Amino acid sequence: MSTASPVPVDPEVTHDTGDPVGEVLVDWYAGAARDLPWREPGTDAWAVLVSEVMLQQTPVARVEPVWRAWLARWPAPADLAAATPAEVIRAWGKLGYPRRALRLREAAVAVTERHGGVVPAEVDELEALPGIGTYTARAVACFGYGRRQPVVDTNVRRVVARLVHGRAEAAPARTSDLVDIAALAPADDARAVRFSVAVMELGALVCVAGNPRCGACPVRDRCRWRLAGYPAHDGPPRRVQRFAGTDRQVRGRLLDVLRAAHEPVQPDALVAAWDDALQRSRCLDSLLVDGLVVQTDDGRFSLPD
Ligand code: ADE
Repeated sequence: MSTASPVPVDPEVTHDTGDPVGEVLVDWYAGAARDLPWREPGTDAWAVLVSEVMLQQTPVARVEPVWRAWLARWPAPADLAAATPAEVIRAWGKLGYPRRALRLREAAVAVTERHGGVVPAEVDELEALPGIGTYTARAVACFGYGRRQPVVDTNVRRVVARLVHGRAEAAPARTSDLVDIAALAPADDARAVRFSVAVMELGALVCVAGNPRCGACPVRDRCRWRLAGYPAHDGPPRRVQRFAGTDRQVRGRLLDVLRAAHEPVQPDALVAAWDDALQRSRCLDSLLVDGLVVQTDDGRFSLPD
């Protein structure tokens, strides 16, 4: 009687033939990677942590100057822990999603108090820090400490969806993404670390959302999505984020006024930031709730001290 595997094995897609996918990606990364400052050898875990928080939903080009200035000013967690909220909100500049600045400061305080000022290397200790989630904890363990870790961001989820599952778009974040990507990682630990960043890079440069550059893809011959004839996305449409007119834009404008002012401003000073009074007031309320703005006893507004 036949003892054939119940799971059909596609020789194009498994690792049994040719170079395993993970090894191919590591070799591709060696020639294709962008030269980004936080990837330079010797970048410490604190600098990696700051880069990863800044890079969430923010393009590399905008992050780079702020990251450099931030680390020049606060080279270690204890330095940032001693800064005021107003200082970190100002230094965050126009990176957007400014709650990240406050959370990063809170993480620096926790690192200083709980870990003697040294960013921990264990994923569970990293995840216990304020504002540090599944992705950031693994990115710091992997890129900051050279630990073998699956690191899954939006770009990686899209690569997994196409390469492994033959689908055009990533499903919402799931634990199985970590398992899927860990299964492709090279056996050698140092190469597994490079593999984690290589998959991110493939998703950022080649396997992009809009018009994937499959001609430039080093694993196109193993991609289930390509082999299946590029089936269209069959789930709900992807949300395209607009910015103009959103509360996010209005919050940014209000913070711009307060960043530029060096003493509390009268409510009138905020009128110029945005015409629509209802939206302006809703956004100001949300900034107060988030702790990004405070109100003085005499009714003026400022960044928190
Ligand atoms: N290298 C390591 N992490 C990165 C990220 N989040 N974005 C771009 N390059 C990176």
